[in-house]
This record gives sequence, structure tokens and C-alpha cells, in this order.
Amino acid sequence: MDNFSFLNPTKLIFGKDQLARLTQEIPQYGSKILLVYGGGSIKKSGLYDKTLSLLQQIEATVFELSGVEPNPRITTVRKGVEICKAEGIEFLLAIGGGSVIDCTKAIAAGAKYEGDAWDIIMKKAQVTAALPFGTVLTLAATGSEMNGNSVITNWETQEKYGWGSPYIYPKFSILDPVHTFTVPKNQTIYGIVDMMSHVLEHYFHLTDETLLQDRMCESLLLTVIETAPKLLEDLESYDHRSTILYCGTMALNGILNMGYRGDWATHNLEHAVSAVYDIPHGGGLAILFPNWMKHTLKVKPERFAQLAVRVFGVDDNGKSSEEVGLAGIEKLREFWNSIGAPAQLADYDIDDSKLELMADRAMANGEFGNFKRLNREDVLTIYQASL
Ligand code: NZQ
Ligand code: ZN
Repeated sequence: MDNFSFLNPTKLIFGKDQLARLTQEIPQYGSKILLVYGGGSIKKSGLYDKTLSLLQQIEATVFELSGVEPNPRITTVRKGVEICKAEGIEFLLAIGGGSVIDCTKAIAAGAKYEGDAWDIIMKKAQVTAALPFGTVLTLAATGSEMNGNSVITNWETQEKYGWGSPYIYPKFSILDPVHTFTVPKNQTIYGIVDMMSHVLEHYFHLTDETLLQDRMCESLLLTVIETAPKLLEDLESYDHRSTILYCGTMALNGILNMGYRGDWATHNLEHAVSAVYDIPHGGGLAILFPNWMKHTLKVKPERFAQLAVRVFGVDDNGKSSEEVGLAGIEKLREFWNSIGAPAQLADYDIDDSKLELMADRAMANGEFGNFKRLNREDVLTIYQASL
């Protein structure tokens, strides 16, 4: 195990009827609030009205930034920064999925920076402060509600990059499973794939003696595999929604990955695809992850075999680690197929015409991946296999 220190300052408020906690949590940060949300799902579900009436109770002055896109754009971040600077916003409240939260994080940091917020995403400017913000999560997927990461797209230049800072952890996040009841089936599936992919990104590493971490990762995967099909049969099940919601947060809040460094190449590969084609993040991961696994199987076949046996119940009797590992990869693909996730780029009408551009985007910061360093040839091979 490697040395580590761990701090996650986000207060997690989980369960039924917790929205009213806004009235206790927000006033300590100020009364001029920017409410950030997406394309309207919160208006349909009634969450918008409920939130506004709670904000009225604490006599907040509320400004709004609506229309945050899935794969949130830097243009929207800039609008938010402008409002914060012009109006002297003291606190941001994000209501939505990962996109709304990631956009809010960039606005929070951008509001404390004199230059263009894109400098922050490109890591040309170091974040030294951010406005405080809280979140009301409506979609189980990214873990953004309890981490210090954000992913922003520049549609003009077809670039999509992740960035992070200790200053952009939410002060609090309210997770009521009921708020996720209205998430449509396809977005529910993408979220399930995304949280499983976060665990898989952790799982493939080169550090020895991560016994507890391995089993924590495996139990999260087993829990999702057990629950996802039941949830997809009954999208308004409080029990299944709450299990999946908790899994999504735990998959990427730093708890599973203490003491080692996961791979994260597949996320970089996916961000390059969605930068060029604007596809849902979880959909892209479902296509790419098994192909990345096949490409890197030989690096440490025992790791793949362990996953196959413990999570997918593969029988390893008389087989090599490589054979067992490969059977596990097939089982993962089968599981994702069984819940209705996409399996090929062709499912999004993506052909080979922009593979070079996607590879340029993936290689923007040079070779990547901690389990296996991928070069341009590796990247193109994985994209080709995913067509
Ligand atoms: O915009 P609205 O109208 O709210 O609709 C959204 C959106 O169309 C809808 N939705 C959300 N909650 C709903 C709902 N519809 C009905 N009922 C609800 N309760 O779902 C659609 C997708 O939302 P989005 O926020 O884009 O999804 P997700 O949470 O999967 O976030 C994806 C973004 O997060 C980034 C991805 O790259 C992508 O840009 N990621 C962020 C990470 C992080 N910050 O740690 C890590 C991830 O690996 C990921 O890269
Ligand atoms: Zn992800």
C-alpha cells in the first residue's frame, strides 16, 4: 500500500424529505444565492418550486442560471461567473446531476479568478479560492456531489477536460432518493455504468497489498450488479434508488482509493469521444471499458482474474489467469448489454472518420493511464476495437 492522507469535507445529507435542510445549511454562507440548474427536469418534478419556497423562508436574494447542458460548456460557466461578479453572489446552489454540479464548481472557482475560467480547466491558472456552494443531487452517477473534480467542455474547440481542486468540494450535498425517481431509464443506465467504471478505474493499479480496498471495490460492484436490474424494472423503488444513489457517491468520493493510484485512462478516452460527438459519458464508457480491458489484460492478468472470480463468478478451475480474466471481461460486457447499455460507437452513429481527432484530444497531455501508459497507437487500437 502507498502512503496516503485523506480529507473529504463535504457534509452528506442522505434520505427522504431532507430538502428542508437547505434552510439550516445555507444562511451561514450568505443570502445572495445563485441557483444553478439544467434543462428543466427540476421544474417538471416540482423540485424547483419547493427549493424557491425554502429560499424565500430564509429571505435569500436568488439569482438563476438555467440551461446547464449535459457535458456542461465553458460558455455557460462564463455566464455564471459574470452573474457572480456583477451581483456579489455569496453562495451557489446546484440542483441537478453531475453536469450541473461540475458547472457550478467551475463557476465557484471562476468567480474568484480575474482571467477567463477556461484557464482553470486547462490548468493554466491555479485555483486559490472558490465561492462556497451546496448541491441537491438528482441523478446517481458521477460522485461529483462529494468530490473535488469537475469536467467542462469547450464546444468551439471540441475539448473536454477534467480538473480538480481542494477548494471545489461542496459544503453539503442533499441526496434524497425520491429526487432521482424521475430519471429516465437511459440516464439511469448511464449512471450505473459510470459508477461501475469509477470502481474499475480504481481497481486496475500496480500497487501491492490493497486487500481491503479490493474487497470494498468488489462489494460496490456486486451491490450495483445485484440492484441495477431490479431498479430498471421499478424506477420508482425507494429502496433500489437509495442503494444506487449511495453506490454512486461512494464510487468516487475518495474512500475506495486510499493507498494506491487507479488507472483512469478509459475516462480520458471517453472524454475525448464526448468532446467530439457530445454523447452521454456513461454510454461512452460502456463501449470503451471492455475494450480497454482486453487491450491491457496482459499487464497483470491476475488482477483481471481476481475481478472475474470474485465479482462475476467465473470458474477458474484449470484455466490460466488470462483465460479467466478474459471470461470476466465478457461477463462485464454481457451485464452491460443485459441492462441496455450501448456496446459500440456505431450505436451513436460514430464511424472511423474522426478517430484521429479523438486521438489528438485524448493525447493532449501526452501518454496517459497509470496501470498501463497508453500511446497514440494504443488509443487508436482501442477506438478501432470500439467501432
Ligand atoms: O438538464 P436537466 O433537465 O436537469 O436533465 C438532465 C440531463 O438531461 C437529466 N436529469 C438529471 N436529473 C434528472 C434528470 N431527468 C429527470 N429527472 C431527474 N431527476 O439527465 C440528463 C443528464 O444529466 P447529467 O448531469 O449530464 O448526467 P451525469 O450526472 O451523468 O453527469 C455527466 C457529466 O459529469 C461528468 C461527465 O463527463 C459529464 O460531463 N463527470 C464528472 C465527474 C466528476 N465531477 O467527478 C466524474 C465523471 O467520471 C464524469 O466524467
Ligand atoms: Zn465517469
